[in-house]
Amino acid sequence: MTADPHALFDLWFAEARESEPNDPEAMALATADAQGRPSVRMVLLKSHDARGFAFYTNSQSRKGGELAANPRAALLFHWKSLRRQVRIEGPVEPVPSEEADFYFASRSRDARIGAWASDQSRPLESRAAFEARYARLVEEYEGGDVARPPYWWGYRVAPERIEFWTDRPHRLHERRLFVRGADGGWTESLLYP
Ligand SMILES: Cc1cc2nc3c(=O)[nH]c(=O)nc-3n(C[C@H](O)[C@H](O)[C@H](O)COP(=O)(O)O)c2cc1C
Repeated sequence: MTADPHALFDLWFAEARESEPNDPEAMALATADAQGRPSVRMVLLKSHDARGFAFYTNSQSRKGGELAANPRAALLFHWKSLRRQVRIEGPVEPVPSEEADFYFASRSRDARIGAWASDQSRPLESRAAFEARYARLVEEYEGGDVARPPYWWGYRVAPERIEFWTDRPHRLHERRLFVRGADGGWTESLLYP
């Protein structure tokens, strides 16, 4: 019998929520440009279900450009308090716009205005210029609705491989690999540490 890696992820994530001092949903997101040059940064997991793992960002950022050129990604969770890591790899798709609207609406008003104020990943002349821009937008939006910027959306990594890594004494770590087949079913195997 092969376990369902999505259910196993949910179990580990619930344990991480109990034991991590902060940000159990923080994950490293690796992308690569059209030439295959890698880059990595942290983002927050905002939803997980059988379709995959979703995060939100500015599509005009460096990561957004790389995902447009090469729509594949790897994710990594490292829960230090549990001595566990989870590695996820697969193709990436934008989330449907209603889903992005729904999540954007759940953010604080300040964060929504911040999404308009930041040209994420592009050069910034000074911190003061950014703060002035933010203050101007706060005034402009006074009392009004803050809609989702057209360049701000979510991406979902649809996993093809998920590996669950557990620390064991003497570096005899345990690695459980799940690979998704063409029929959508999962095959589980073990890897040497
Ligand atoms: C714990 C943590 C969580 C973060 N979460 C997000 C996020 O969910 N979305 C995002 O766009 N940036 C997030 N950031 C900032 C990114 O790491 C990064 O600085 C930014 O997205 C620009 O990356 P890029 O230039 O590679 O596109 C987070 C940073 C940290 C340290």
